[in-house]
Amino acid sequence: MSGFVEKPEPLQVPGLTHLHTGKVRDLYQNADGELIMVASDRISVYDWVLPTEIPDKGRVLTQLSLWWFDQLADLAPNHVLSTELPPGAPADWEGRTLVCTSLEMAPVECVARGYLTGSGLAEYRQSRTVCGLALPEGLVDGSELPAPIFTPATKAAVGDHDENVSYEEVARQVGPETAARLRRATLDIYARARDIARGRGILLADTKFEFGFKDGEMVLADEVLTPDSSRFWPADLWRPGQAQPSFDKQFVRDHLTSPASGWDRNGELPPPGLPQDVVDATRAKYIEAYERLTGLTWS
Ligand SMILES: Nc1ncnc2c1ncn2[C@@H]1O[C@H](COP(=O)(O)OP(=O)(O)OP(=O)(O)O)[C@@H](O)[C@H]1O
Ligand SMILES: [Mg+2]
Repeated sequence: MSGFVEKPEPLQVPGLTHLHTGKVRDLYQNADGELIMVASDRISVYDWVLPTEIPDKGRVLTQLSLWWFDQLADLAPNHVLSTELPPGAPADWEGRTLVCTSLEMAPVECVARGYLTGSGLAEYRQSRTVCGLALPEGLVDGSELPAPIFTPATKAAVGDHDENVSYEEVARQVGPETAARLRRATLDIYARARDIARGRGILLADTKFEFGFKDGEMVLADEVLTPDSSRFWPADLWRPGQAQPSFDKQFVRDHLTSPASGWDRNGELPPPGLPQDVVDATRAKYIEAYERLTGLTWS
């Protein structure tokens, strides 16, 4: 079972058309055809969007994404047009809203992995490959890969898992030239971000980018290098051979799998709400991730 514990109702904002409610972001379109991306404070864990929000999470992730877009500006143009609130938008949208160029999205989740875990590890254990790429023997959960790899996935509907696909499958879908550009950009951006994060004591285990096209130009879209789109691991706690602690969601995971939550992860029922101490500790982790990565103070 997975999905929303409580599906949020889209807000009605004059002049905006609601397009989509994602697990975490809400999308609207303005009269100029621009995309308005609003990052909520929703959190998803174990495939569930929880009924409890983490205050400021959407703001922290939006500001982090903006910071990364700046760090990457010489590698990839991005879709951000402005951070100005559309007229009539609720004040709560401040800091969590991006006005973006509406792009023709490539139908591929462009994942780069520098370390083995998650769905990559599952495939590796079956076939010693990830997305069909052969890897050396002897790797374990959390191992650093000999070199970062491009492991594309096809986008799934809410509640479904994205499906890892081979590079050849991507080339079939978007054409060999576009596939090569997606792979090149994904690996270049990953390498830049990995080095920046490493300098701050954080391992960027893997991350997902989305690209779109406008007038033939390939543009970096969606959110980038946030804890929702990436696995960040504290470098000092990295121990290959076991599940690494999640930088942001560990308190939530630990709580939901403890007897205290009363929830059965493998059962039929959705997870319960979070207690205040778990909410507070998790909010502090998002802020810590922002502050450590950017070197800025959250305010
Ligand atoms: N510039 C853009 N132009 C058009 N579409 C975009 C642009 N940037 C991002 N998107 C699309 O916006 C959508 C964001 O919604 P999505 O359902 O992914 O929200 P989410 O909260 O990230 O949920 P999930 O956790 O399921 O990914 C994605 O389909 C993404 O491809
Ligand atoms: Mg998404």
